[in-house]
Parts: sequence; structure tokens; C-alpha cells
Amino acid sequence: MASLLRAATWGLFLWRGYCSRGTKGELSKGFVEALKAVVGSPHVSTAAVVREHHGHDESVHRCQPPDAVVWPQNVEQVSRLAALCYSQGVPIIPFGTGTGLEGGVCAVQGGVCVNLTHMDRILELNPEDFSVVVEPGVTRKALNTHLRDSGLWFPVDPGADASLCGMAATGASGTNAVRYGTMRDNVLNLEVVLPDGRLLHTAGPGRHFRKSAAGYNLTGLFVGSEGTLGLITATTLRLHPAPEATVAATCAFPSVQAAVDSTVHILQAAVPVARIEFLDEITIDACNRYSKLNCSVAPTLFLEFHGSEKALEEQLQRAEEITQHHGASHFSWAKDAEERSRLWQARHNAWYAVLALRPGCKGYSTDVCVPISRLPEILVQAKEDLNASGLTGATAGHVGDGNFHCMLSVDPEDPEELRRVKAFAERLSRRALALHGTCTGEHGIGLGKRQLLQEEVGAVGVQTMRQLKAMLDPQGLMNPGKVL
Ligand SMILES: Cc1cc2nc3c(=O)[nH]c(=O)nc-3n(C[C@H](O)[C@H](O)[C@H](O)COP(=O)(O)OP(=O)(O)OC[C@H]3O[C@@H](n4cnc5c(N)ncnc54)[C@H](O)[C@@H]3O)c2cc1C
Ligand SMILES: *[C@@H]1O[C@H](CO)[C@@H](O)[C@H](O)[C@H]1NC(C)=O
Ligand SMILES: *[C@@H]1O[C@H](CO)[C@@H](O)[C@H](O)[C@H]1NC(C)=O
Ligand SMILES: *[C@@H]1O[C@H](CO)[C@@H](O)[C@H](O)[C@H]1NC(C)=O
Ligand SMILES: *[C@@H]1O[C@H](CO)[C@@H](O)[C@H](O)[C@H]1NC(C)=O
Repeated sequence: MASLLRAATWGLFLWRGYCSRGTKGELSKGFVEALKAVVGSPHVSTAAVVREHHGHDESVHRCQPPDAVVWPQNVEQVSRLAALCYSQGVPIIPFGTGTGLEGGVCAVQGGVCVNLTHMDRILELNPEDFSVVVEPGVTRKALNTHLRDSGLWFPVDPGADASLCGMAATGASGTNAVRYGTMRDNVLNLEVVLPDGRLLHTAGPGRHFRKSAAGYNLTGLFVGSEGTLGLITATTLRLHPAPEATVAATCAFPSVQAAVDSTVHILQAAVPVARIEFLDEITIDACNRYSKLNCSVAPTLFLEFHGSEKALEEQLQRAEEITQHHGASHFSWAKDAEERSRLWQARHNAWYAVLALRPGCKGYSTDVCVPISRLPEILVQAKEDLNASGLTGATAGHVGDGNFHCMLSVDPEDPEELRRVKAFAERLSRRALALHGTCTGEHGIGLGKRQLLQEEVGAVGVQTMRQLKAMLDPQGLMNPGKVL
């Protein structure tokens, strides 16, 4: 009985949890009219199906949908919406492209979901300064398409084609971070509508400098704030020169340990790899099936090198020597652009590939990050733990940063399996913390990792975060129930 009850509670926790309705499921007619007065009637919806669509991201977290969805057309409207919601005590939830993996857009207390996709302009490109200003509706792929002939590109690439402001909001990264950094390194300025409607430019209006010693770094405060401090209405990004030449390669290893040891050695040898991605044998098998690759089913590294032809030759030789030393197969090359893009598309689709292994199941993705020297032990332990817990899971990751993911498939109808998945994910995060790492390298805290954040930063850390939050959002209306 007790275990049944526990299982039922866990099911609730994962699929329907946290829903203490701040707005009791109803917005007054007058309030909806006031929303319409700000953005225009066609840009407000209270239809069940629309609210349902905006009530979840790509994670297993489920929650009540918001009470209304609005589509502002410009920053003035966002500002008026925030002021209106704030004056009426209605929660506000910013919505990017909904590709988040930690339940960040769930309307825990109901309220108004702000779908920002209509604001999709690239406002300003400064090629000589390597910077660009984009609105929240611009996705990473749309930006790179725009930059195609400029000789510049934006390298931060989560698997999904997420909005760049959403990426700033979650502190996202991806396969290129080992060389080009994460959103934390590539956001120069943010335009933010604060909960009460005031407009903040975190680095000062229009500024896009590379360095500064002027006061507190407010940009850094808002990167990774997951919609809990304000609505990001524009982000100024650092661009990078497009590489002169690019080569990608894959190689298979006799063990997980050998693949990860090679990664550590390649970095120690200061080979400037652009991408170094680990895929375990389960992930490779899934990608072979889903993306029609033809890789040996073994722990594998996908690598990419950027530079001049001459520099590439040197990098490749050094990297291959190291992997061979660890017993890897010879490099299998992907030289032309089409082959490369097939490879990286397969990597980005690894999540869907793993899900396809067990039709009808839901995916539970968790990510942790540790100092690189601790990566081999945590990866090996994670795989042992998965096996011992009888779970279907794959590991893959941006191992050059010490960051990896476990992708688990779970049967949503099986509360016992859900319980094991959650217990596994928590053990994994605690192991990362014990190794001086973090409970999330890139997906964020969202709903599910709030307890872990407290363990990570400690009592004074959490207290300081709460004080910052209370100062900016005294009523607790900006994306309530997340992070803290
Ligand atoms: C297949 C797949 C692969 C992925 N791979 C990676 C990966 O490699 N690396 C990685 O980092 N992530 C990855 N993700 C997760 C996801 O793509 C990122 O978290 C991304 O940054 C979310 O952006 P979004 O626009 O979809 O945000 P949403 O899901 O819409 O929102 C996420 C959070 O940000 C807030 N938010 C969104 N926009 C704004 C805004 N304009 N202002 C204020 N707050 C806002 C929301 O309120 C919410 O809390 C992956 C997801 C999928 C489905
Ligand atoms: C947000 O709005 C855009 C534009 O109308 C739409 O394409 C998108 O599907 C919406 N998001 C959701 C989750 O419905
Ligand atoms: C402030 O933080 C942002 C985001 O993390 C970072 O990109 C920027 O370089 C920092 N600015 C300064 C002046 O340190
Ligand atoms: C797949 O690889 C094997 C050897 O690794 C090779 O014999 C086979 O021809 C390849 N198949 C395709 C379709 O490329
Ligand atoms: C997984 O566990 C089973 C027993 O449950 C064991 O036989 C097998 O060797 C284990 N596999 C790995 C890779 O550890």
C-alpha cells in the first residue's frame, strides 16, 4: 500500500505536479479585455487547445496550462503586459520555442503565457564588431541562415532549433561550446522587461563591448535566469568568424573509459577541437537506425576541427595519434559539407533516436557537468548504475566540457519505472556534486532540480539568490515555481 501510494505520488509529481493555481484557473473577463487592449484581440487566446500547447515543453514535466496566451508584437506591448499582470497579481510566463527540457514553461500557478515568436527581427548586425542584436522570435538556425554570406556565424547550438533569447534565458550550450563557449560567453547585452514593466538594458542601451570593468555584471545575472527575473525582449550576441576549413571525423573505442580518456588527453595537448562529442554504444545503435548512419556499435567520439587547411592537418594528426594510443579505430572522415551536416544532424537528433528505440515511451533527459578529470569515473558509474537499475538509457555528451546527458525512455503508465528513473537522475546529480561539478551543465533547474540547486550552492547561495529574486520580483509573479 505504502509503495503504491509512493508510486502514485511520484506519478503526480512528474506529470501533473506543482500546480497550486495562483489564478484559480480563471481570469476575469475584464482582465482578458485589458490584455486585448494591449496586444489586439487576435493576439490573445483563452482556447483550451492553445493553452494546452503552451503548457509544456519537451520534457516529461506536465502541468496545468496557462489561463491565457498572448502574442505581443513589440517591446512596448511586452512592457505594458508586464505592468498590467503585475498590477493585478497575475503570473507571467515567457515562452520561446518550448524546446526546454526542465519544465521551464509550465504554468505552475496559471497566469498569462507570453509567446514571443512574433517579435522575430534581426535588429542590428555589426560585422566589424562581431555582434548582432536579435528579438526573441529569432532561432539559432534563422540567425545563421541570415549570416550565411557575411563570413560570420553564431556557434552555440543546442540540439533543437531554439530561440536565441530562450537560449540566453536557460544558459544553453551545445556541441561547439568546447571551442566557442556557451551562451554565458556569447551574450553581450540583454534588453529585459522587468516584472513591473520597466525596461532594462543590462549593459546599457546599444552597448556591445568585448570587455568592461564597469560595475556589477547584470547581463550575467539574467543569462540562465529561466524567465524568473524578467522577459528578455532582445539579446546582443557575440559572433565569430566562419572557419576557413572544416573537417569532421568519427572513431570507435574499445571502452567508454578509453573514449573519455582520449578526450581529456586531446584537451591537455591543447588541440583546439571545435567539437568533441561522446556517444555510447546504445546512442550509436539508435542513431544508426534513426539517422541511417553506418557507425560501428561501440563507444564513439564525433570530432570536428576548424582552421586553415594547414592548421587542420596538424590538429588531425595529433588527435588521431592520441585516439590510436587509446585503442581507437582509425578516423572515419566526413569531409564534404553534406556528409558533415548528416553527421551532426544525427548527433542533434540523438534524443529522438533514443526515444524511437521504445515506441510509446516518453523521454527523460538529464544533464550534469563535472571537472574534466572526473568525467571518466562519473560516466562509467552512470552506465553501471543504469544497468543495475534495469533502466533503458543512453549516454551522450559534450565531453570536451565535462558535460554529458543521460537519455532515458520511460513508460508513462508505469509509476514504478518512473520512480526508478527519478531516483537514478538524482543519484547522478549528487554524484556530479560530490565530484565538484554541477547538477546541470545546460538544461537548467526548471521544476525538477530546485532541491539540487540548494545542495549545489549551499544555504547562503540560495539565500542570496532569493534576495535578488525578491528585489526584482517582490510578488513572485515572474515564472513562479522555477529555479528557487
Ligand atoms: C532534441 C533536443 C536537444 C537539446 N539539446 C540541447 C543542448 O545540446 N544544449 C542545451 O543547452 N539545451 C538543449 N536542449 C534544450 C533546449 O533546446 C534549450 O534549453 C533552449 O535554450 C530552450 O530554448 P527555448 O526558446 O525553446 O525555450 P523555452 O523552452 O520556450 O523556455 C525555456 C525557459 O526559458 C524561459 N524563456 C524563454 N524565452 C524567454 C525570454 N525571451 N525571456 C525570458 N525567459 C524566457 C522560459 O520561461 C523557460 O523557463 C535540447 C532540447 C531538445 C528538444
Ligand atoms: C507560438 O506562436 C507561434 C506564432 O503564432 C506559433 O507558430 C507557435 O506554435 C506558438 N507556440 C505554441 C507552443 O503553440
Ligand atoms: C557579463 O556576463 C555576460 C554573460 O555571462 C558575459 O558574456 C560578459 O562577457 C560579461 N561581461 C563582462 C564585462 O564581464
Ligand atoms: C557500412 O560499413 C561496413 C563496414 O564498416 C561496410 O562493409 C558497408 O558497406 C557499409 N554500408 C554502407 C551502406 O555504407
Ligand atoms: C548489466 O547487468 C547484467 C546483470 O543484471 C550483467 O550481466 C551485465 O554484464 C551488465 N552489463 C554491463 C555492461 O555492465
